[in-house]
Amino acid sequence: MAWLESGRGWPVILLHGFPLTADTWRPQLDAVPDGWRFIAPHLRGFGSGPPVQAPMSVADYAADVLALLDALALDDAVIGGLSMGGYVTFAMHRAAPARFTRMILADTRAEADTPQGREARMQMRELVARAGAAGVAAQMLPKLLSPAAPAETVAFVRRTIESASPPAIDAALGALMDRPDSTPELARISCPVLLTVGDADAITPPADAERMHAAIARASLAVIRDAGHLANLEQPAAFSRALADFLASAL
Ligand code: MLT
Repeated sequence: MAWLESGRGWPVILLHGFPLTADTWRPQLDAVPDGWRFIAPHLRGFGSGPPVQAPMSVADYAADVLALLDALALDDAVIGGLSMGGYVTFAMHRAAPARFTRMILADTRAEADTPQGREARMQMRELVARAGAAGVAAQMLPKLLSPAAPAETVAFVRRTIESASPPAIDAALGALMDRPDSTPELARISCPVLLTVGDADAITPPADAERMHAAIARASLAVIRDAGHLANLEQPAAFSRALADFLASAL
């Protein structure tokens, strides 16, 4: 598994959203607080690695990241992700809760897909078969960023999605639509948790983060103003500040 990393010190694993790559964590990799090492893996099929075919599950992506921790000789770490990266974070916690010193859940949700959500995933699987990654980019972009996002951010996200391989997108859609409900997991999370959400997130709106905030024992919630779903890209300074404050807070 390939990854990006920056900084020296205690490890922080940052998992990217769908259908993106670890490059979407560049603003945070460029602003690592002293004493920390940020590690952003490219999930299987995205940004690197051998070709991927469905079926994949969130547990498969989680197993890849746990194997990376082993390979880097990291017993535990701060572990988190944005959106799909959050779903993989939940799957890692189900498998190996002791490896979490803290958790980050950015623009994500605990619930499984609704029947309508699953239907939309099926339609997107047809879209990627018919129109490729460019079709997926055209459909997703308006939901990923707020209307005020800078043109270069929109162009970066479009380029990133368009470079994804259709089989990797298809496999990830299968994993997303079949992912389990993580709501029962929330009460089992005993480490400190940072929840973040863009105030204009159209995919996992602030109400999703507020429900997780109420259900997790040691959670803090940072609402990122003037940001859509990819809040770490759209308001990188505010997101990185919330992350640094969380990492600096007492355990
Ligand atoms: C993501 O950003 O990872 C996806 O939009 C998540 C989802 O569609 O549920």
